Parts: sequence; structure tokens; C-alpha cells
Amino acid sequence: MNHFTDLTRNIIKHGLTISLLVFLAFAASPILAADNTNAKTGAANGKKLHDAKCFGCHDTRQYTRKNRIIHTFEDLHARVEFCDAASNAGFSFDELDDVVTYLNTEFYKFKK
Ligand code: HEC
Repeated sequence: MNHFTDLTRNIIKHGLTISLLVFLAFAASPILAADNTNAKTGAANGKKLHDAKCFGCHDTRQYTRKNRIIHTFEDLHARVEFCDAASNAGFSFDELDDVVTYLNTEFYKFKK
């Protein structure tokens, strides 16, 4: 009786673990796919925003110069916010993210 209940309990426990893993794998895939699409449309939108507002003081050579000042993804995000303020571009949070995505995809290539 006891032995049987232990066995049943084990089957239920492992069954649940497996269903949970399967569920998580499926639940995560649309999120990952969406993230990927956003990275592409984000970069394209970011380029548009960048080219419209960011050529006031420097061009894109600034991003590939030898002594560039940006060395991490966080630096890049902070710098884009700084230059957004300096240039009165007035980007929203989403637009800032898109510009960062564009610059990172095209020039910096940091792993996040
Ligand atoms: C008001 C002038 C001005 C405008 C407009 C401007 N920037 Fe800048 N930006 C600078 C200056 C000056 C530097 C270099 C700072 C230094 O070398 O210490 C710089 C550097 C940068 C860097 C770092 C380059 C490196 O060394 O890796 C990034 C990224 C950047 N700008 C992004 C932008 C973006 C995005 C915009 C549009 C929102 C923009 N900038 C508009 C003045 C400006």
C-alpha cells in the first residue's frame, strides 16, 4: 500500500516536472521569436530616428573611431541618452532603445 503510493507520487511528481518543462519551452518560444523580430524592426526604426536627429555634431565615424569612449552595452545606452538630451532629439524610451539597437547591431556589436 505504502510502496504503491510512493510510486504513484513519484510518477505524478516527474510527470509534473516534465509537463512544466514542456510548457516552459512552448511558453518561451513566442517571447524569443518576438524579441528577434523586435531587434530587426527596432534597428531599422533606430536608423531612421538616428539619421533624422543625430548628425548635428558627428557622423557615424564617431562610433568606429580608434579611441572611442563606449565599451559596454550599458555605456552605449547611457551615451545615447546623453546625446539625446544634448541634441534635444526628444526620443521616447522605446525610441532610445531602437537607436541603441541600431548602433549596437551596426557598429558596436556588444553581447547584452
Ligand atoms: C550636441 C552635439 C551632439 C549631438 C547632436 C549628438 N551627439 Fe553624440 N556625441 C557628441 C560628442 C561631443 C561626442 C564625443 C564625446 C567624447 O568623445 O567625449 C559624442 C559621442 C557619441 C557616442 C559615443 C562614440 C564613441 O566614442 O563610441 C555615441 C554612441 C553618440 N554620440 C550617439 C549619439 C546619438 C544617438 C545622437 C542622436 C540622439 C547623437 N549622438 C547626437 C555630441 C553630440
